[in-house]
Amino acid sequence: MRNSRILGVGHHLPDRVVTNADLQEYMDTSDEWVQQRTGIRERRYSDGWTGAADMGAIAAHEAMDRAGLPARDLDCIIFATLSPDVDMPSSACLLQDRLGIGGIPAFDVRNQCSGFLYSLAVADTFVKTGLYDRVLIVGSEVHSTGIDLSTRGREVAVIFGDGAGAVVVGPEADPRRGVLSTHLHAEGKFAEKLWLECATSRARPRLTEDMIIGDEARIFPKMEGRYVFRHAVTRFPEVIREALDANGCTTADLALLIPHQANLRISQMVAAGLELPDEKVFNNIQRYGNTTAGSIPIALYEALGEGRIRDGDLVCLAAFGAGFTWASALLRW
Ligand code: ACO
Repeated sequence: MRNSRILGVGHHLPDRVVTNADLQEYMDTSDEWVQQRTGIRERRYSDGWTGAADMGAIAAHEAMDRAGLPARDLDCIIFATLSPDVDMPSSACLLQDRLGIGGIPAFDVRNQCSGFLYSLAVADTFVKTGLYDRVLIVGSEVHSTGIDLSTRGREVAVIFGDGAGAVVVGPEADPRRGVLSTHLHAEGKFAEKLWLECATSRARPRLTEDMIIGDEARIFPKMEGRYVFRHAVTRFPEVIREALDANGCTTADLALLIPHQANLRISQMVAAGLELPDEKVFNNIQRYGNTTAGSIPIALYEALGEGRIRDGDLVCLAAFGAGFTWASALLRW
């Protein structure tokens, strides 16, 4: 069986920069609190009418350009997001139309912070088995229109930002290169520790006034921050070690770890636990916050741009998020 590899990477970040000080206009918070707890200095917000598919299309065009591949040559589109443009159809279908193509399969993966790696696992399998030759994966989120920007929602709101990343996955003939393995996990019993409850198919109508108004409003994401933190710092190292073990590698072999950008403190604790020096761990959460499904491809784009990944390097991608879900992928670049 052939391997798959990433042929091109693209990204898009909205122009509007929102600093921690800017957030003080809406809520009781401070730059000091946010930086100390999360490492985040600023994030990007969309203009309020640009959706996940629009941002994804810009990232996709860049990824296809870098792969030297026109949209008409794609075989499949996978779109990872927790903030789809509409409930139905998928943002993947909307993106396909924006790319000016039709006929090929297009579907969404709704797996939050692990969504990009779940998508990569699917694309890798499609390519490995020979079903498809060119798979576009987009991870794109517009959080800014869905978070509670009042003091009530500050614990969650300060963390998230908007952004999109994209990769084109294609065949790699050398079995020692490309995507070496992917590892996926989920534990649904923790669903309510980090979730967005409404609109919901458990009610008719799906959205009512009491879901929207007041302290008990259920239309915004809710998180038990400390609980999520504790699980993240356990699952990240576990799934990174799983990827290394599966390929007979150790942390010493790693050129770069690109963790999902959940919280700088989480990345730092994971790196310390694995005894990885700072230069082997990529972080850009300081500038973009947590862009969920967008975070790994955006980080990968920047790591490549900064020359942090060279030909033949061993790179580990890892994620943890709502579900709970967690995942990793080991790549030989
Ligand atoms: N600004 C100022 N004060 C705040 C803010 C804010 N934005 N948010 C909460 N506080 C207050 C709280 O109300 C609390 O006040 P109190 O002591 O008077 O009750 C105080 O700060 C401390 O709150 P804690 O919850 O103890 O703060 P903690 O140190 O745990 O940090 C945080 C909170 C940053 C959310 C942390 O728990 C965390 O990082 N959790 C991991 C969650 C995570 O990374 N999520 C990312 C999304 S997960 C994913 O990627 C899907």
